[in-house]
Amino acid sequence: MAKKNAEGYLSAKEARRIARENRKITNAFEKQRKRKKVPESEYLTEMHDAGNAVEFDNLHTYFYTDEGVVKSVDGVSFEVPIGKTVGVVGESGCGKSVTSLSLMQLLQRPQGQVVEGAIRLNLGDKAYDVTKVPNEKMQELRGNIVSMIFQEPMTSLNPVFRIGDQVDEVIALHDGEGKSKAEIKERTIELLKMVGIANSEGVYRMFPHELSGGMRQRVCIAIALACNPRVIIADEPTTALDVTIQAQVLDLLRNLKEKINSSIMFITHDLGVIAEMADYVVVMYAGRIVEKGTADEIFSHPAHPYTIGLMASKPVVGQKVDKLYSIPGKVPNPVNMPNYCYFKDRCEMCLEECSGEYPREIQISPTHFVSCYRYYDGKQSDADKRKGEQ
Ligand SMILES: Nc1ncnc2c1ncn2[C@@H]1O[C@H](COP(=O)(O)OP(=O)(O)OP(=O)(O)O)[C@@H](O)[C@H]1O
Ligand code: SF4
Ligand SMILES: [Mg+2]
Repeated sequence: MAKKNAEGYLSAKEARRIARENRKITNAFEKQRKRKKVPESEYLTEMHDAGNAVEFDNLHTYFYTDEGVVKSVDGVSFEVPIGKTVGVVGESGCGKSVTSLSLMQLLQRPQGQVVEGAIRLNLGDKAYDVTKVPNEKMQELRGNIVSMIFQEPMTSLNPVFRIGDQVDEVIALHDGEGKSKAEIKERTIELLKMVGIANSEGVYRMFPHELSGGMRQRVCIAIALACNPRVIIADEPTTALDVTIQAQVLDLLRNLKEKINSSIMFITHDLGVIAEMADYVVVMYAGRIVEKGTADEIFSHPAHPYTIGLMASKPVVGQKVDKLYSIPGKVPNPVNMPNYCYFKDRCEMCLEECSGEYPREIQISPTHFVSCYRYYDGKQSDADKRKGEQ
């Protein structure tokens, strides 16, 4: 823990001490990951359910910064079933991207490290624990088994290379064995057509700046699909697009998912998008999951006060309100988390017990879980109570 002086600054001596300690910890992690020729048995694992594409199990991802340890993801467990879409929602800074980057092993290193837990990735005939996979092997999994669509297509594409060259490169790298240049180009054109680019031959020769935002995002989707991955992570893929293009890109993703039977982990803070896309929903708050369930359970019977607040802050077409609800307060500082429910300081449904330790996860249906004292002793959600009374 960083000791600050009366003005709230770190002394140079204290900063040096923290940096030294951090280096010691992160060097040990990096050494482990950079090893060559690691036997497969070290990272082989078994899926708890063969019907899942990915299983996050008690994942802890920390950033060792000069200010102290940022516990960005602090004990997250959820599954992405094969062929399904799992929506991950939560306010900015709650750890959505860090969870997905942990699966891709694309965290900002050496500061960012998975310190505990497992991420089981289903490869069909076997499963790997991604947290133990060395760098060398991870390069084969990235793109081939898991791929990612980012928020801002302009920064994901290289501005100085033509679209065709950028898609060709991905195919050549991951799936190009025994393929001639002409065959690779043919596959690129096929992919561009698949994502709804009409003039695919023309776009093949264009530079990213010659395309609109929606077209660029389609190209990024084509790149992500190039090697038929089993899991696609879409991190806010439509946030940078206007509403009509957003709808088109969502349609495209939905259709493609059916065609290639991949699983999608869909990250967004837009509940409307989640309602349209997801089969299951995971609600994150300050690095932890506060509620998870099927999309219907989360939307029709939200149980956690945070989810209820998120639902209330969503505008509804045809419903006139003077002022849209917003959850009071802000997310706690991830360097100094409280030792009670992280949402307590903003919660309007607080109970006496809430000052106790962080609430454990309570199962309120076979698929619906919530971490909140209000559901201890088998208490029902208000929505369920109302349903029972009807
Ligand atoms: N490279 C980093 N160094 C230090 N802290 C980081 C780093 N990257 C992320 N964090 C911290 O981790 C926490 C979670 O960040 P993350 O990017 O996962 O949020 P998010 O839920 O994706 O938010 P958004 O909706 O804004 O994308 C934040 O508190 C953030 O400050
Ligand atoms: S545990 Fe208590 S403070 Fe936390 S969300 Fe539930 S009711 Fe609110
Ligand atoms: Mg993010």
